[in-house]
Amino acid sequence: MSATPRIADYAINEQFINRWSPRAFTAEPISEETLLSFLEAARWAPSANNSQPWRFLYARRDTPNWERYLNLLVPANRSWAQQASALVVVISKTTYAAPGATEERPALWHTFDTGSAWGHLALQASISGWHTHGMAGFDQELARQELKVPEGYVLHAMVAIGKLGDKSSLNEALQAREVPSPRKPLSELAAEGDFSL
Ligand SMILES: Cc1cc2nc3c(=O)[nH]c(=O)nc-3n(C[C@H](O)[C@H](O)[C@H](O)COP(=O)(O)O)c2cc1C
Repeated sequence: MSATPRIADYAINEQFINRWSPRAFTAEPISEETLLSFLEAARWAPSANNSQPWRFLYARRDTPNWERYLNLLVPANRSWAQQASALVVVISKTTYAAPGATEERPALWHTFDTGSAWGHLALQASISGWHTHGMAGFDQELARQELKVPEGYVLHAMVAIGKLGDKSSLNEALQAREVPSPRKPLSELAAEGDFSL
């Protein structure tokens, strides 16, 4: 049975609509092996020239890195993400050396590729019974400094990962938002032939 009330316009694997981004988490620990299995799924994403520009930094709760990572989030995100089990920073490398070349050149599709990798991560977590929640709300400059991310790499987002908790742990405003969201109809997003959207 589908875990969400979402309905697809066309037949798809239910995993795509079962994945959603809650804010109520149980604050339970996650093993490194489990977390690495989600990053393993990300590793198998496609990328231009197989350049694999994605990079991931992570902290698991109850470890020395946890508070450092939590402090990178804007307060609104920190308020609920502190109940998550892991935080991942999604980064990409902006240059790459083509196969057989030694010189680096701009990796023009590094953002496209890394978005795909995060999608794999989120789906694998969902398949494994966990939830993810992507967050743009974090201090990019602080994260770069704090986590020693060198030039030539872009920080995109942080991801909270956890087991679904009871929404009573959230304030009223967030409780009201704790439902899987709908989508625009596919007819507004895709057209055959010329652009008519
Ligand atoms: C790149 C990115 C940044 C996001 N930033 C935030 C954020 O800072 N805070 C938040 O609560 N949700 C954030 N979200 C969650 C989105 O609002 C959510 O994915 C979207 O509404 C679709 O809902 P669903 O993931 O439950 O399907 C972000 C999602 C993505 C992919």
